[in-house]
Amino acid sequence: MQQATLAIIKPDAIKKNIIGQIVRRIEENDLAVVAMKMVHLSRKMAESFYYVHRERPFFASLTQFMSEAPVVLMVLRGENAISRWRDIMGATDPAKAKEGTIRKLFGESIERNAVHGSDGPESAGFEIGYFFSAVELVR
Ligand code: CMP
Repeated sequence: MQQATLAIIKPDAIKKNIIGQIVRRIEENDLAVVAMKMVHLSRKMAESFYYVHRERPFFASLTQFMSEAPVVLMVLRGENAISRWRDIMGATDPAKAKEGTIRKLFGESIERNAVHGSDGPESAGFEIGYFFSAVELVR
């Protein structure tokens, strides 16, 4: 099934200058980048994006982190793109992520974990629409 998912290269990865290394892994795994932009999120933008986590103890720290430096936002398209991008990222906690995954390679902690990916079709719809309008998606 062809799907679209939202991918974010997070502030920790931007500061490490590894945008290209992450995009290369997306391309090598046959996912297509169909929209891309770099933005510096405000605290409010980060809070609204992670609204589902508002009750979590890490919410304040997470939204501070996500607004401390720019991020790269992408829409990825491909066969089963949602679960495939999650496999390429690895587990949320880099310490538990499999060898060769992006979070194992580049994540610093469960919070500063280099990348984000939508966790299902419903969140992908919300997350893509939050950052991109229809004319920004090339296919
Ligand atoms: P992400 O996939 O973007 O979804 C929610 C984010 O919250 C997650 O990646 C981490 O950056 C962060 N996160 C999840 N669990 C924790 C935790 N226990 N402590 C701190 N941050 C967390």
